[in-house]
Amino acid sequence: MTRADRSILVLHGPNLDLLGTREPEKYGDTTLPDIDAALGALADQLGVRVSCHQSNHEGQLVELIHGARGVHAGLVLNLAAYTHTSVAIRDALAAVALPFVEVHLTNVHAREEFRHRSMVAALALGIVQGFGVDSYLLGLRGMVRWLES
Ligand code: DQA
Repeated sequence: MTRADRSILVLHGPNLDLLGTREPEKYGDTTLPDIDAALGALADQLGVRVSCHQSNHEGQLVELIHGARGVHAGLVLNLAAYTHTSVAIRDALAAVALPFVEVHLTNVHAREEFRHRSMVAALALGIVQGFGVDSYLLGLRGMVRWLES
């Protein structure tokens, strides 16, 4: 088993760097460093490594996805607003053909209609949404369980 087999890339999309102060009635008061710390602690328990990155730039997210090939076994992605718009990120995920879980803090289907469409959902192993930080943790558990099965 190689190092890449136990490494998961976590990507946070635009505006998630503002968690903690951003619309707390929707997203709660947990900050992005809190989420990354919780993912790191769970990764230790599960015997995997996580590498967490946030970007507000579509092209940078595309490049991080390209760079995952041969380095990470799978991805946990909260693409935030790009979920609903980005053909470029969808194509990058199809190109690298790595397994990924789509996560959202909120239940996007209970929100505005423009959030109901995901450009990447059809390529995902699974989707976890509506559980706040736990969406990420459940997504990581699902990804690791899938890789081990
Ligand atoms: C989000 C939902 C998206 O619709 C929104 O654009 C976000 C966050 C979530 O985690 O609930 O920025 O991905």
